[in-house]
Amino acid sequence: MTIKNSHSVQVSLGDRSYEIVIGPGLLDESAEKIHAWLMAKSGARDNPSAFLVTDENVASYAESVTKNLTAAGWRTTTFQMEPGESSKRLEVISKAWDQLVEFQADRRTVVISIGGGVVGDAGGFVAATFARGLPFVQIPTTLLADVDSSVGGKVGINHAQAKNLIGAFHQPLGVLIDTDAFQTLPDREYISGLAEVIKYGVILDADFFTFLEGNVSAIQQRDSEVLKKIISRCCELKAYVVERDEHETTGLRAVLNYGHTYCHAFEALTGYGELLHGEAVSMGMVYASKLAEKLGRVDQALTDRQVRLLEAVGLPLNLADPTAISIEDVVGRMKLDKKTVGGMLRFVLPTKMGHVELVEDVPEELVRQTLQEGGLSSC
Ligand SMILES: NC(=O)c1ccc[n+]([C@@H]2O[C@H](COP(=O)([O-])OP(=O)(O)OC[C@H]3O[C@@H](n4cnc5c(N)ncnc54)[C@H](O)[C@@H]3O)[C@@H](O)[C@H]2O)c1
Ligand SMILES: [Zn+2]
Repeated sequence: MTIKNSHSVQVSLGDRSYEIVIGPGLLDESAEKIHAWLMAKSGARDNPSAFLVTDENVASYAESVTKNLTAAGWRTTTFQMEPGESSKRLEVISKAWDQLVEFQADRRTVVISIGGGVVGDAGGFVAATFARGLPFVQIPTTLLADVDSSVGGKVGINHAQAKNLIGAFHQPLGVLIDTDAFQTLPDREYISGLAEVIKYGVILDADFFTFLEGNVSAIQQRDSEVLKKIISRCCELKAYVVERDEHETTGLRAVLNYGHTYCHAFEALTGYGELLHGEAVSMGMVYASKLAEKLGRVDQALTDRQVRLLEAVGLPLNLADPTAISIEDVVGRMKLDKKTVGGMLRFVLPTKMGHVELVEDVPEELVRQTLQEGGLSSC
């Protein structure tokens, strides 16, 4: 069977290179794709086996993949986690290891994550750690996972004190994005994912930003063709960054953190789970752009363009109750953030549409001004 109407993006990382395939109905071709990826990496295998990781909200997608694999002669088992961030913890990973042992997994068993970023990060961590690394496939089902978490090889779980503190780089064999899968995603989750989409335009691709501005209603209607284009472009842009900074050593990968210094502080101070990540990214981009204005790097028109697009797709521009959070606490959190070195405040800031830079040593006073103007409390 040949895959029709799909688009392929290559992530070039030497012997860790892989394909991201994007299109409708791809779940039904998962066995064929995964087989091809395995063949390309390490040749034919007898008795292939797969360990599927999923959560109950997307279990039906995992069942489609299981059916497809079983029909092609694979032995499979499914590890189902509770939906939500709290599954990114060691106890859950430990249960997955137990199930792998029981399944008599060997070093060629393929771990396949089918779900959002939580399932992708946790399943990837299982793959990275069991038997010193199993082959891994990502089948993302949220927009955020399609455009961000499934590409780039960062896998991991949370520590009680910090998100994503325990992890590894473990690139997948391939990423299969079925653009029909996120149609069942609740609106709030879908809209939240759009914040990362818009972020790619601001940081790397002015034409893409213009394309998004011109396609707001198709985006709202989750038009398959437009979404395929959008997801493909985001994956190309993420691949571009990851290829040049796979392990976050050259600094380029930091551009992906536009809006995230404010975002992480807001997420932590509103209590994790209150804001969805993309909602906090949306607010964070508005604040960061205003900070860039204060530094004379951009004019207000650039912020206004972002505000208009974020608002048009239904993303929030500010905290629901900014007075509930103090400026002091936000600045304190920012200093704890891993992008802060030696107490100096560092931000990824735009210089023009489609371009950002990492700016070291941003005066704290200007950050405070943005928060004050946003209505946060001074005491
Ligand atoms: N590894 C990386 O590079 C990277 C990058 C960004 C984010 N992340 C991580 O990703 C996670 C967030 O991912 P997320 O936003 O996808 O959240 P998520 O995985 O929690 O999914 C959101 C919710 O939607 C449900 N869901 C998923 N797909 C669905 C579908 N098709 N239909 C109906 N419901 C569906 C899930 O069960 C869950 O309840 C965070 O843990 C974050 O740290 C990782
Ligand atoms: Zn993000």
